[in-house]
Amino acid sequence: MKNSSYIAGFSFYVPESVLTNKDLEKLVDTNDEWIISRTGIRQRHIVSHQACSDLAYEASLKALERTCLKPEDITHIITATFTPDTYVPNAACIIMEKLGIRGIPAMDVNAACTGFIYGIELARGLCYVSPGAKVLLVASEVVTSRINMKDRSTSVIFADGAGACIISNQTFDDDVPSGCVQDVVLKADGSLGPLLTVKGGGSAHAMVPGQVVGDDFFVQMEGREVFKHAVRSMRDVSLEIMNRNSLTADDIDLFIPHQANIRIIEAVAKIMNIKDEKIFVNVQDYGNTSAASVPIALADAWEKGRIKPGYLALLVAFGGGFTWGATLIRF
Ligand code: ACO
Repeated sequence: MKNSSYIAGFSFYVPESVLTNKDLEKLVDTNDEWIISRTGIRQRHIVSHQACSDLAYEASLKALERTCLKPEDITHIITATFTPDTYVPNAACIIMEKLGIRGIPAMDVNAACTGFIYGIELARGLCYVSPGAKVLLVASEVVTSRINMKDRSTSVIFADGAGACIISNQTFDDDVPSGCVQDVVLKADGSLGPLLTVKGGGSAHAMVPGQVVGDDFFVQMEGREVFKHAVRSMRDVSLEIMNRNSLTADDIDLFIPHQANIRIIEAVAKIMNIKDEKIFVNVQDYGNTSAASVPIALADAWEKGRIKPGYLALLVAFGGGFTWGATLIRF
């Protein structure tokens, strides 16, 4: 789909509590050196008492402030998450209530770590059919609510956070962080779903009152297999979006991949010949925040002055489902 939708006001919020690798050493059989060398993660932010909507609310307020919009200017809310506060109501309805908005559509999209890229395409579609739309897209995850902290294959990787933006057909002043969404490619393959699951509590694994949750209530991941698919899929979808826009790696000014694991990021960038100085990495500070990872990285890149007017950014993500996708943004 080709239309001129703009992404603006990128913002992020992470909870105050920091969990370092040293802290994890006290919880599970792991060590700082292993975590840094295998994942690149040094610390991550985790909630104490906040839920998905609390993180989303903070990130959304910042996005509204940065675009000089009021909550009542928003026409649609999309929340990308696989860790909503509750199954019903959805997270978007809870966020809407916190923002004091009523009477507009509010929905969640679950595409695990690719949720933000899926959300961009859905928001572009809404802007296409309703040209005056101003969509609040917020990706928010309390992944730790579905992590067994005693499972070292997941507890060292995942973390909590939120990233938000406004998608509309409106251009903004130069001082507002914004860019034009030039293209989006989305993919999924359900046959690979069993490699990364959260089954417990779903209708295929219903709980009965009083039942104690089992391991399947938490993220179960075949790390090595997921790793291989993440590299291949992020490479393929990046090349597809570049090819169909007649771009080479030299045309990409900033590469913002899903912050899952520094080794995945480096492997994808290497195969694609993207130079180190063009890769944005903050996994060392925030860990893998699932759907929130890409918008957190986007907002962090802007706050660190890594985004310049005229730059072309390639954002790419991969997650459970499996789902994967990429988008091109011209700032
Ligand atoms: N601390 C210390 N040792 C560990 C730990 C740990 N936390 N975890 C595993 N090990 C050990 C293993 O037991 C194994 O030991 P052995 O060789 O004696 O058997 C060794 O380290 C290597 O284990 P691997 O599982 O092969 O480790 P790997 O290098 O694959 O790293 C990791 C594991 C970090 C999970 C990696 O596979 C990964 O990042 N996978 C992809 C995650 C991802 O991208 N997920 C997608 C998005 S998430 C979403 O959609 C919600």
